[in-house]
Amino acid sequence: MQVKSIRLKNFRNYEQALIEPDAGVTVFTGPNAQGKTNIIEALHLCCLGRSHRTPRDEELIRWGCEEAFVKTQTLQQDGTHEVSILLSRRQKKKKNVRIGAHPAERIGELLGHVCGVLFSPEDLMIVKSGPAERRRFIDMQLSQLRPAYFYALQRAQRALNQRNALLKEIARQPALRSTLDMWDEQLAACGAQIAQNRQEAIEALSLCAHQAHASLTEGREDLSVRYVSVAAQAADPKQTLLERMHAARQEDLRRMTTTVGVHRDDLEITIDGKPARLFASQGQQRSAVLSLKLAQLELARRERGEAPVLMLDDVMSELDPARRRQLIERIDRVQTFVTCTDLADLAGAKKGAVYHVSGGTLTRE
Ligand SMILES: Nc1ncnc2c1ncn2[C@@H]1O[C@H](COP(=O)(O)OP(=O)(O)O)[C@@H](O)[C@H]1O
Ligand SMILES: [Mg+2]
Repeated sequence: MQVKSIRLKNFRNYEQALIEPDAGVTVFTGPNAQGKTNIIEALHLCCLGRSHRTPRDEELIRWGCEEAFVKTQTLQQDGTHEVSILLSRRQKKKKNVRIGAHPAERIGELLGHVCGVLFSPEDLMIVKSGPAERRRFIDMQLSQLRPAYFYALQRAQRALNQRNALLKEIARQPALRSTLDMWDEQLAACGAQIAQNRQEAIEALSLCAHQAHASLTEGREDLSVRYVSVAAQAADPKQTLLERMHAARQEDLRRMTTTVGVHRDDLEITIDGKPARLFASQGQQRSAVLSLKLAQLELARRERGEAPVLMLDDVMSELDPARRRQLIERIDRVQTFVTCTDLADLAGAKKGAVYHVSGGTLTRE
């Protein structure tokens, strides 16, 4: 897949911008706080319908403006695709998505028209932080590749909210207790679908990340990723989820929240058999994240039959020269967007278009 153009209007600190990237590496360079990440964010918005930095779309609208607009055109094996997103402060519908000329009824319809893998310094959190970051990592990957997964996640979230609200309500009205069964059933059904997808994806990811890491560390370290879930490896995930929810019902009623389900899943990331979160050095953790990102890229390429675009936001300066070289070798083969404060960080890379970013203005070199 190749991004042919990105057009911005009143997006973050850009009044107007048009980016016509190279098939290879497109670079955005400039001092801090000029608008480099904002470009990556706009592209991410077209990939997944949301920013990677904030859940609040109104933050993306240029200060003092009513609306923001982003349009991304891609060329894929089956032809040209176009995603347009209009964000509004005042309109009842705050986010309007179009696929080509066709208005999308659901956000999920944009998935797959622009497909990208983002690697930023915050991704270190995948290794260092709690389970929520790791679920987000696998969910973003799977949502882009499989819209049905995205819809299952949405259903699961709604059912979870309803069930949690009901658990609080039952504390006041015990007679409502029997209505829990309905939500258990729904949660187990979409939970099973989510668990099956995660299981399969994480197995493939583990193999790929293991290989990438072996190559990054010249065979010295053994990286592995394992799916941790009540439903992992279950012969019948739905039945297993139902049984575990029933067993936890007293506890759920007492705590007024749902304690069992795929919303508690985790990925266990180990280096040489030890949890990377606890025992790996900062340098090892960085390498592990790089391996995970390279694996993500490879899996997306396999599943789609063509590579997604790679977005590298400020990561070059954080890698040591050897890792940087390894990454630069790989980006030769995929369309890549790189941001950096210093072009020297990209020494050795075949640079295509270079944009200088200053206060929301782009100047092509
Ligand atoms: N909604 C907005 N309207 C106008 N400017 C914004 C908005 N949101 C952020 N900014 C500005 O964008 C700049 C940060 O852009 P960013 O792309 O994160 O910088 P960097 O070049 O360091 O990656 C800051 O100057 C910030 O004030
Ligand atoms: Mg930035």
